[in-house]
Amino acid sequence: MKTIAIAIDGPAGAGKSSLAKAVSSKLGYIYIDTGALYRAIGLAFSRKGIDTDLNCNIEEMLKEIKVDIKFIDDTQHVFLNGEDVSDEIRTPTASMMASAVSAKPAVRAFLLDMQRDFAKKYNCIMDGRDIGTVVLPDAKVKIFLTASAEERAMRRFRELKEKGSDATFEEVLADMEKRDFNDSNRAIAPLKPAEDSVIADTTGKTVEESVVMLMEIIKKGIED
Ligand code: DC
Repeated sequence: MKTIAIAIDGPAGAGKSSLAKAVSSKLGYIYIDTGALYRAIGLAFSRKGIDTDLNCNIEEMLKEIKVDIKFIDDTQHVFLNGEDVSDEIRTPTASMMASAVSAKPAVRAFLLDMQRDFAKKYNCIMDGRDIGTVVLPDAKVKIFLTASAEERAMRRFRELKEKGSDATFEEVLADMEKRDFNDSNRAIAPLKPAEDSVIADTTGKTVEESVVMLMEIIKKGIED
């Protein structure tokens, strides 16, 4: 059976994961959050005492790393060498480490086939930075999801606050701008809209309104 893939790319905090989750359950597709894979690799490096300068032999480090995705109650869990690290990868430090490791060609190559294999097996919505441009260039529908930097930072700030973080809004905004810069300016697979993507801006929109917008784009894209 030929599967259908929907690619959603965009900067941090644009709402990719919450919207992709909502839309995938409406469509009965699986949702794959590829950022979690880069986060798990970033965590493996952090645990070895390496910081965002990545002063180490990346290829050698990767030989000791195994990353897996499993679906438990329809929710993606990411495993690092057999350990479920789904919660541990959600800290601001893990975000910056993920952004740093993701600029390395060896890391991107390490994760590429795994992402493509999922799309071969399942109808899926896959979100990330380079899904429409590199990982799944033949995706049936490609969406570039965005929102203003202030609004994206405010959403992240609220999420972190709920988890008990004492980071200020200014710190969250500065981290987000730094990460956007890294992700958009790296030499390999930079964050950018695929030429055949539809740009969806969620600034000022509620989750419900954004879901309606995405469902319209997807329905139209699947019919074409
Ligand atoms: O989507 P996220 O915030 O969980 O992603 C964490 C980092 O991983 C992000 O700053 C850039 C990187 N990433 C990537 O380079 N390519 C992807 N497909 C997904 C994430």
